[in-house]
This record gives sequence, structure tokens and C-alpha cells, in this order.
Amino acid sequence: MEKLKQLYEGKAKKVYATDDENFFIVEYKDDATAFNGEKRGTITGKGVVNNKMSNILFKMLEANGVKTHFVEELSDRETLVKAVKIIPLEIIIRNVAAGSFSKRYGVEEGRALKAPTLEFSLKDDALNDPLINNSHIIALDIASEAELKVISDMAFKINELLKNYFANIGVKLIDFKIEMGRDANNNIILADEISPDTCRFWDAKTNEKLDKDRFRRDLGNVEEAYQEMFKRVNK
Ligand code: TMP
Repeated sequence: MEKLKQLYEGKAKKVYATDDENFFIVEYKDDATAFNGEKRGTITGKGVVNNKMSNILFKMLEANGVKTHFVEELSDRETLVKAVKIIPLEIIIRNVAAGSFSKRYGVEEGRALKAPTLEFSLKDDALNDPLINNSHIIALDIASEAELKVISDMAFKINELLKNYFANIGVKLIDFKIEMGRDANNNIILADEISPDTCRFWDAKTNEKLDKDRFRRDLGNVEEAYQEMFKRVNK
């Protein structure tokens, strides 16, 4: 399929139109940002890792009944995906307290949660992605109550599948962010990416951080962490 006009450039990816309106091509960059773009840098090889890792995980999820936008990997950094309209929500699942959750509620990082939690942030850089609740989402017509049920059920199912998958490769899935979109038939499917940019991964034995927190917090060995995660996933 032919790559046509660039439709969108985000912090970590570009999205292109194709000659078929039902498909987009996403291209993953090495650019890294944190704190809503305040901190900027490059993580060499990140685009390749995030592209290939997302595709492996999307295939695993599809094999387990989760509908995703994945169609075909085109190159190290490019993937053909189904065209969707992204629902402007960051859908965040947590298994272990960390990051903004730890800060907000005064809970030490690393405390296992009694049950997985789900929260939403409104995807809006100008507003700094504020937390948003179900009633606000319905009132603002971002998603219907029925859609929210679908989104939540999918998110918890994805968590179970990912948690098991990562446990088998010696990784604790602390938390992650996903995005969903509506396809041409208004079905809600998983979109965006699942990668060290969008998940917290801790080594199961040592609790070493193997994700973007190494960049956010200046912990060093950023590239190495991305490559280590890719090595474990790409077995
Ligand atoms: P948080 O603890 O900073 O709220 O992050 C929760 C999860 O969401 C973590 O796995 C990192 C991911 N995340 C993103 O993918 N994009 C973002 O912009 C932020 C803030 C977090």
C-alpha cells in the first residue's frame, strides 16, 4: 500500500494516509519526551523496538480475542494499521503503585495493589492530560456509558493477558497506558502502541526498571533497557 500525505505527527510517531482510506501507516521515531514535552531527548533504536514490540504484543492479543488496529509490519519502523478515530482518553491500568498514582495517594512505589485499577486521563496536551471520570466522559460525549463498559472490560482483559505474557519472560507489569479508537463500523479496537514508552516494566528478580522511567528519571542505560525488553519479547 502506498504511503501518502502525513496526517499527524505526535511526540513519538507519525501517521500517514494510504491510497485506501481504511488504512494508515504509522512510523515510529526515536524522539523521547517526558512531562508533557518539557524534557526532550533521543533514545537510539527506540522506534524500532517500539514498533516491533507493539506488533508482537498486538498479535498475541488478537490471538486471544482482543481486536486491535494491527494489520502488517512494513519495515523496522513502519506498520500498516486499520484507520480509526482515536478516542481522546489515556486508559491506564495499574497492578502495582508507581508514578503519579504513588504521588497522588502517598503510596510507596512498588506496593502491590489489592486489585488492578483503571483510570482515565483526557488526552489534551494543552490541559496536561487531566484525570477524568466516567461521568465526565459521558457528559462531555467522549464515549457513551455502553462504550465505557466495552473499554473497561477490554482494558482489564488486556491487563490479564499482558501480565501473564510478561511474567513468562521475567518481567513484572507494573502499569501501562493504552488508547482505543473507533473503526469504520464504530467498533472499539485497541490502537496506538504497547512499548517501554507506555508501560512500566520491572525485572521480576531485581526490580530493575526496564522502561521509559530510565529516561524520565535520568537513571542511565536507557537504550540498554529498551534492547533488553525487546530481546525478551522477541524470543
Ligand atoms: P503515570 O504513573 O505517570 O500516570 O503513568 C502511568 C502509565 O502510563 C505508565 O506506564 C507510563 C504511561 N504513560 C504514558 O504512556 N504516557 C504518558 O503521557 C504518561 C504520563 C504516562
